[in-house]
Amino acid sequence: MTSLTTTDRYDAVSRFFHWTMAGLIAVVFAMGLLVDALPRSAEAAFVNVHMLLGLLILALYAGRIGWRWRHKPPPADPTLGRFIDATSRLGHIGLYALMIATPLVGLALIFFRGRGIDFYAFQIPSPIAASRAVSRPMKEVHEWAAYALVGLAALHAAAALWHHFVRRDGVLQRMLPAR
Ligand code: HEM
Ligand code: HEM
Repeated sequence: MTSLTTTDRYDAVSRFFHWTMAGLIAVVFAMGLLVDALPRSAEAAFVNVHMLLGLLILALYAGRIGWRWRHKPPPADPTLGRFIDATSRLGHIGLYALMIATPLVGLALIFFRGRGIDFYAFQIPSPIAASRAVSRPMKEVHEWAAYALVGLAALHAAAALWHHFVRRDGVLQRMLPAR
């Protein structure tokens, strides 16, 4: 198996953003799916935690993009070929787009319901008038954006595992700490 030096890997901050956000997205997605299975009395508090963690994803996203701006990834293996290079770039752009679209639509959804967010120490009320005509389709959009995000992330993870176990190159190690 290929052995990588530090300069072939994503830096520690990029790795931190990558894995923290991947874990949070998995948790927030699972919480979204669980909402309907809960008793009505527990729903509001549970959705609130879903929203707070979703907002944490948004905050991390801002930091991640800022960091990415100044810290380019290590150069790609030239033997990968144009097809893999292009599909992986496209996939990453799609992930970045869905990682911001999903929580932003979630935020719009809750505001169009006329509800705010409870930060426990303080509350943020909805800044806009409630509209069921908008919030209903917005919920569908939020749901489909979340499915697209997690679906694409699953393909992306499968690609990383293909690199590791089938092609046996160092692509997965680029996102892992040096041993
Ligand atoms: C990457 C981040 C997020 C993911 C992956 C995600 C995922 C989901 C999923 C899968 C559902 C269930 C949809 C359904 O079955 O109809 C859901 C529901 C919901 N999400 Fe998110 N979400 C995220 C962020 C947010 C944020 C930031 C907010 C608001 C600030 C939010 C607000 C909501 C609301 C209000 C619901 C509807 C809950 C209900 O049934 O009443 N989400 N989310
Ligand atoms: C919600 C889950 C995930 C999301 C949103 C996500 C997102 C991303 C993004 C946007 C990049 C591009 C980084 C950049 O160049 O700026 C990336 C790279 C990478 N991800 Fe993920 N990822 C997720 C889960 C995973 C998982 C589960 C694995 C491993 C099984 C993985 C392995 C990798 C690897 C190896 C790279 C580096 C690819 C390269 O060298 O070009 N990711 N990921």
